[in-house]
Amino acid sequence: MTFGLKVVKKLQWTNVPIDKLDLKAMKVAIVGGTGGIGQGFSRMFDSRGANVTVVGRTFRDDDLENVHFIKADLELMSEAKRVSKELAKLPLDMVIFTNGIFAATTRQRTSEGLERDMAVSYLSRLVIIRNLLPTLAETHTHMLKRPRVFVVGYPGTGELGTVEDLNSEGKYSVMQTHMNTVAGNEALVLDSARRYPEIGVYGLNPGLIKTNIRSNLLGANSWKSWIIESIIGFWCQSTEDYARRMLPMMVSSDLDAYNPAFFNNKAQAVESQKFTEPYVEKFIGKSEELLEKSGVSLD
Ligand SMILES: NC(=O)c1ccc[n+]([C@@H]2O[C@H](COP(=O)([O-])OP(=O)(O)OC[C@H]3O[C@@H](n4cnc5c(N)ncnc54)[C@H](OP(=O)(O)O)[C@@H]3O)[C@@H](O)[C@H]2O)c1
Repeated sequence: MTFGLKVVKKLQWTNVPIDKLDLKAMKVAIVGGTGGIGQGFSRMFDSRGANVTVVGRTFRDDDLENVHFIKADLELMSEAKRVSKELAKLPLDMVIFTNGIFAATTRQRTSEGLERDMAVSYLSRLVIIRNLLPTLAETHTHMLKRPRVFVVGYPGTGELGTVEDLNSEGKYSVMQTHMNTVAGNEALVLDSARRYPEIGVYGLNPGLIKTNIRSNLLGANSWKSWIIESIIGFWCQSTEDYARRMLPMMVSSDLDAYNPAFFNNKAQAVESQKFTEPYVEKFIGKSEELLEKSGVSLD
């Protein structure tokens, strides 16, 4: 389910059925590829022959020969930097960001002084993008005209976040905090596409999918989590169905003509709403200030 998204009809791509895709020449990194949506992508890319590197805290696919693991706790920006250096050593065609959590009922603070949802779901991505994309831009990919980056979040809803309080230091609200990560990831796609024109940068809105994303809010293995995830699981597509639907679009050469672009959970292009260039600049500038205040430099 995705509400309030506006489909862009002129952006069309040719659908090649997943079982016809040969991705043996492809190298993909999935930051947050150890669970949920990222793991769905990882397994689907692996099934089509791609070489996959996943980043997360717990590896769950050590039976898959072509899936490699980098262990990292991405609530720490020092770890995000280390990950970007590790990834920069690989000749990658594509980088996907699915790392994330949902804000908790009370504010959580990392040892670097950052609100935890912002740190894991958005700021770590900003740090990795800034440290990795200059190297990625020089990659001559085997399969694609230029390397691609996909940022999974909740773009296209017009959610702008609360730019004056990105670290949730004012009156705490779970939704306001999480919406800062939603807005941040949309701004990140728009900013990165402008900053690195040699790379295709895209935002994905998966709608609702049964995963662990709400555990930090509802309590891992709690009855609340069980009921809500069961309802989502019953009504919405699975991580496997989502990956099967998205992969043909993610590797389609038709995307070369569009940068940036956003896609809904049916792989249809959707509009980014309300994000003017000055607003994106302001959001990214405030994010950089926040990182600096926490003693984290972007380079
Ligand atoms: N599922 C939905 O309904 C939904 C809806 C809208 C948007 N999204 C977005 O989709 C993205 C993926 O979410 P998901 O539903 O797949 O969630 P998920 O099942 O909880 O998976 C999140 C991934 O992030 C990793 N991760 C979490 N904390 C980490 C940390 N401290 N350090 C390193 N890795 C960490 C997890 O790795 P480990 O398990 O190894 O720690 C896992 O691989 C998120 O950006 C989310 O906001 C999801």
